[in-house]
Amino acid sequence: MKVFNSISEIRENLNQLRKEDKTISFVPTMGYLHEGHLSLVRYAKKNSDVCVVSIFVNPMQFGPNEDFNKYPRDEKRDLQLLQQENCDLVFIPSANEMYGSDYQTFVKVKKYSEILEGEFRPTHFEGVTTVVLKLFNIVQPHFAVFGQKDAQQAFIIQKMVDDLNIPIRIDVLPIVREADGLAMSSRNVYLNEEERKQALCLFKGIQLAEKLFNEGERDAHKIISEVKQFISQHDLAKIDYVEIVDKSSFEKATFLFEGKEYYLLLAVRIGNTRLIDNTILNLKK
Ligand code: PAF
Repeated sequence: MKVFNSISEIRENLNQLRKEDKTISFVPTMGYLHEGHLSLVRYAKKNSDVCVVSIFVNPMQFGPNEDFNKYPRDEKRDLQLLQQENCDLVFIPSANEMYGSDYQTFVKVKKYSEILEGEFRPTHFEGVTTVVLKLFNIVQPHFAVFGQKDAQQAFIIQKMVDDLNIPIRIDVLPIVREADGLAMSSRNVYLNEEERKQALCLFKGIQLAEKLFNEGERDAHKIISEVKQFISQHDLAKIDYVEIVDKSSFEKATFLFEGKEYYLLLAVRIGNTRLIDNTILNLKK
């Protein structure tokens, strides 16, 4: 496994591999890897000749009062895990390597960056799309792999790729959960014992929505209000949003039609930790 900190060096290496006609896959991450990330790496490795993983805690996607400074980091452990997965190239740039001292260019997928997560994190998605486009330009993979856990992020990246004619396929893989159902996230490490218990209300809320849906409930507002009511019973939980959107357009849904797919999306603060989770509601389940 080769580790690069410099853009020019990883580029040179990848240019050579492209000349050899290798298929290149890419998994962008912010490190502090867990099974969710590793499931993406395994998929990338299995479906390509060369698997590239980036580790970069991107300052641009954190708001001024967010957790950039305390975001968990453990490069040594990350590299060990990636080595075990037979990852081929790892890119770990510094903020200076990525942005230099006079960075001016931003990419924004306008409408979709302002709703849901964007209402609570107004600059977040612009930071994500800017760094992801830069990473795409550096790595130039055949395909890139993202997790469904960040469903809105995956949707926005697909939209950017479509709008800007970027020749990269985007694959989105299912959420990986802890044994009790909590969606894996690097931020779960912030939770104390009581918060960890109450954090399960997101998954249980999802299960409640799935039960209502499978029993025939098609009124989105009814499902949302039951989930909200359930989560509100947890004293450490503060709901940012619970919404149901059409999976293909991210438009809010009122009635759930047969044959269509929807995301139930949740963002809930447990103490000081903001967690997101989601599920796909469809009749084919
Ligand atoms: O999902 C993440 O970890 C980040 O948003 C990403 C895609 C690596 C961009 O910094």
